[in-house]
Amino acid sequence: MKHLLSISDLHRDSAISLLNLAVEMQQVNSRDVKKLPALNGRTVANLFFEDSTRTRFSFELAAKRLSADVVNFTAKGSSVSKGESLKDTVQTIEAMGVEALIVRHHHSGAANTIANSAWSKSAVINAGDGTHEHPTQGLLDALTIRQRLKGTSDKGDLSGLRVLIAGDILHSRVARSNLLLLRLLGAKVGIVGPATLVPDDARILADFVYFNFDEALSDNFDVVMMLRMQRERMNSAFIPNETEYSTLWGLSESRFNLLSTDTLIMHPGPMNRGLEISSAAADSPQSAILDQVANGVAVRMAVLYKLLAQETSLK
Ligand code: ASP
Ligand code: CP
Repeated sequence: MKHLLSISDLHRDSAISLLNLAVEMQQVNSRDVKKLPALNGRTVANLFFEDSTRTRFSFELAAKRLSADVVNFTAKGSSVSKGESLKDTVQTIEAMGVEALIVRHHHSGAANTIANSAWSKSAVINAGDGTHEHPTQGLLDALTIRQRLKGTSDKGDLSGLRVLIAGDILHSRVARSNLLLLRLLGAKVGIVGPATLVPDDARILADFVYFNFDEALSDNFDVVMMLRMQRERMNSAFIPNETEYSTLWGLSESRFNLLSTDTLIMHPGPMNRGLEISSAAADSPQSAILDQVANGVAVRMAVLYKLLAQETSLK
């Protein structure tokens, strides 16, 4: 069975070929009739145990643009509240003829558990598991960086580019997938955040580690990727208070104004405006935040096409 659980399911060439396929999907998305017949008659389920706007909508749109039937499960309002287990939930949905599961879950490893179980037959795509990974976010971010900084005709990797990931690295599955993928594609990646929010494994993965935001920003990165503070995952006091966090770690208007006008600003969303990012930065022409959202649909079409229409392994 073919799955996408982690960036480690890809190697450099397969990641580049997925990005190139996503560019073809962008062309489909720019047509009046945004539809391919590739998954006609196939059924995909969004299985979301945690809240989402971008990921759930874009997977649904991606599957529909490939002509699949899509059913949406959200834990809120489901029989999970009556005590139904993950295994029984998956088996119930599969019994209705679903063959691919797009899984978001608050537990790290939930998508792997389903994919490697004896009780599920579906192709599984990880749409964010706890603090572990969010591989399609990494792919859409890589595509956005490639197109905004290397030009839309580029079909290559990200070598020569320097990316800074800033904020709550500890709780961010986006940071982990980006560290793995952007470095696989040849970029140099720095991380910066309060020491309490920069875990050891990320320090080992990164090319540069900073604990002072202004010092990191003065090192002229091509991309500054801001992360949301994941308060829903914080079980103790990782920061003194939000005012101090935004003063020390926020991409304020004054910090943004010190950057080169070529610096690309990214954020996976949802944003906490005024906390980790100012509106001046988020709404500027340098911001790629809405490109990231748009590219999410094309990247997810590419992943669904590879796994379900071509039935090829991603590696
Ligand atoms: N939406 C991203 C995620 O689900 C980032 C975030 O929530 O801050 O990981
Ligand atoms: N970037 C992202 O995963 O957003 P959602 O949580 O809204 O899906």
